[in-house]
Amino acid sequence: MDNILHWGIIAPGRIAHKFAQDLQLAEGNRLHAVASRSLQRAQDFAAQYGARHALGSYEEMTGCPGLDVVYVASPHTSHLEHTLLCLKNKIPVLCEKPLAMNARQVRQMIAAARANETFLMEALWTRFIPAFEKALEMVQEGVIGRLKSMRADFGFKANFPPEHRLFNRALGGGALLDVGIYPVFAALAFLGKPATVKALAIFGKTGVDESCGMLFHFPGNGLAILDASIVVQTETVAVLYGEKGTLQLNGRFHEPQDLTLTLYDGNSRHLRMPFTGNGYYHEIMAVAECLKRGKKESEKMPLDFSLQLMELLDDIRRMAGITYPGMDEIAEL
Ligand SMILES: NC(=O)c1ccc[n+]([C@@H]2O[C@H](COP(=O)([O-])OP(=O)(O)OC[C@H]3O[C@@H](n4cnc5c(N)ncnc54)[C@H](OP(=O)(O)O)[C@@H]3O)[C@@H](O)[C@H]2O)c1
Repeated sequence: MDNILHWGIIAPGRIAHKFAQDLQLAEGNRLHAVASRSLQRAQDFAAQYGARHALGSYEEMTGCPGLDVVYVASPHTSHLEHTLLCLKNKIPVLCEKPLAMNARQVRQMIAAARANETFLMEALWTRFIPAFEKALEMVQEGVIGRLKSMRADFGFKANFPPEHRLFNRALGGGALLDVGIYPVFAALAFLGKPATVKALAIFGKTGVDESCGMLFHFPGNGLAILDASIVVQTETVAVLYGEKGTLQLNGRFHEPQDLTLTLYDGNSRHLRMPFTGNGYYHEIMAVAECLKRGKKESEKMPLDFSLQLMELLDDIRRMAGITYPGMDEIAEL
């Protein structure tokens, strides 16, 4: 036993590169294996990040010797299949966001994790970013008083060709599941489960939701006003409005490095809290800690939270008419 956590990566795409860079910074963690649909791509990736095993199919990951945990970084539509592949072989999984395409799939994944007594976590890295954790702590401590409402947006101009997964409904493309998930996650994290959800989407040429607007009403009269886009760049900030003042998670709020506190009594404060590497370092360390302690899920990002998040995304889809071919129709969600 060398006390090193040996990671495997399924699907070495854009995000997998950033993740692998952060793995190199995370003491006690090492990239051990990478699996691609193409052996050449796996070999290139393995060579770039020093992984011992390059595998030419995802299935081979389950037989890889010396593996401790797998990071699933395939398109959303494959998260269920690739996560189940690992869980059924009792391999712990960190799976990219969104955890799956709908709540029914998330329930299947949770059931598999529990039946196999194997760790599973959604890679919602924002939850582990130090400035986001600080904001959660400040709100819980009542620094801005009782939270009354919040606004959050995430918009970027996706300069990709129409066949890219972001514009491909068959791969779960569109604003909601790619970036809209972040403001929805933030609302759930700060205000809890809404009682009412309203949503509207604007659809582009390929049929994906290019922009999506959401309005949540919470028990006790909290409001969240949220939006997401893959065709326009928006500020990408989150502002929390409390009875005593406001707390802003400055852009981009899903990877915040500074917070602005503005109290109605005139006190203002700016907190600078850089993250490490590309920001994925923190979720890597959190998973490593869970596995070291024999945990089957993360206390900070528990599976029931991921299920609630997906249920909310399903509610938004129902309201806004967002569908994916070959996936469950809205009526079945
Ligand atoms: N946490 C974050 O900040 C963040 C950021 C971006 C994306 N993500 C999430 O990570 C996942 C992957 O996103 P990405 O931007 O890395 O995507 P990407 O660049 O398109 O990479 C996805 C990889 O999945 C594999 N793949 C398997 N089936 C595929 C298919 N039918 N079509 C295309 N690729 C397929 C491909 O690798 P091989 O063919 O080599 O196996 C591909 O390189 C998404 O679920 C996304 O939501 C998270």
